[in-house]
Amino acid sequence: MAGQVKSRERVQEHGEVFTNEREVNAMLDMVKQETERIDSRFLEPACGDGNFLSEVLRRKLDVVDSRYRRSLPEWERYAFIAVGSIYGVELLRDNTITCRKRLYGIVGSRYARVSKGSQNQAFLDAIAFVLERNILNGNALSLKAVDAAGNDTDEPIIFSEWSVVLGDKVKRRDFRLDEMLEGNVDKGQTRSLFGAGNNPAVDWEYDEETKSFIPKPIREYPLVSFYEVQSYE
Ligand SMILES: C[S@@+](CC[C@H](N)C(=O)[O-])C[C@H]1O[C@@H](n2cnc3c(N)ncnc32)[C@H](O)[C@@H]1O
Repeated sequence: MAGQVKSRERVQEHGEVFTNEREVNAMLDMVKQETERIDSRFLEPACGDGNFLSEVLRRKLDVVDSRYRRSLPEWERYAFIAVGSIYGVELLRDNTITCRKRLYGIVGSRYARVSKGSQNQAFLDAIAFVLERNILNGNALSLKAVDAAGNDTDEPIIFSEWSVVLGDKVKRRDFRLDEMLEGNVDKGQTRSLFGAGNNPAVDWEYDEETKSFIPKPIREYPLVSFYEVQSYE
């Protein structure tokens, strides 16, 4: 993103003022360790065209490059994990599309360098597919998907978790964002940050990773190779 403002209307209507690189880096330095952990999850609820998410991806890929550049299958595996753990929601469709393209471009140029011309198109297609699923056109306040005009639809925002296990195998599980935000509390002891308490309509399970109750996924998919992740839909 070259400038911080595209138009006065967009600032007035959507608060669209992009963060400059120096501020992005200063803020990310406050959680530096997490930005350099390949599988740490980031969700930006008003991600614009991806100023923060691009820098997170760059930092993660620096680690992937330094550890795995000598083995292309390993580089691909860890680059997939890096991309798969980055999430964004953005109201405006043009920003959403630009954000996906930026992230794809970052992976693509690194991949061209490490693969020295012997690129596997299936890997790049898998990255594009994950970015379509992880960077969503939605309203981070209502937690609904939006239409091309930026109006809420009836559909909830649904994110996919990508867990890479056993070599190149990946498991996809889908979760509703509204349920995840309500569930990320110590169930039975702490009320939801969003004031609704624990919703009895949601099925919960205890998650060892986050040490909290999380909603059950609304859909689980069979294991596939991450090179074939597009076969999920
Ligand atoms: C201040 S800009 C920041 C963009 C980006 N995070 C950055 O720092 O460069 C706010 C962004 O939020 C988007 N936005 C506004 N309301 C939103 C909403 N309810 N849900 C999701 N995105 C929203 C705008 O379109 C805009 O891209």
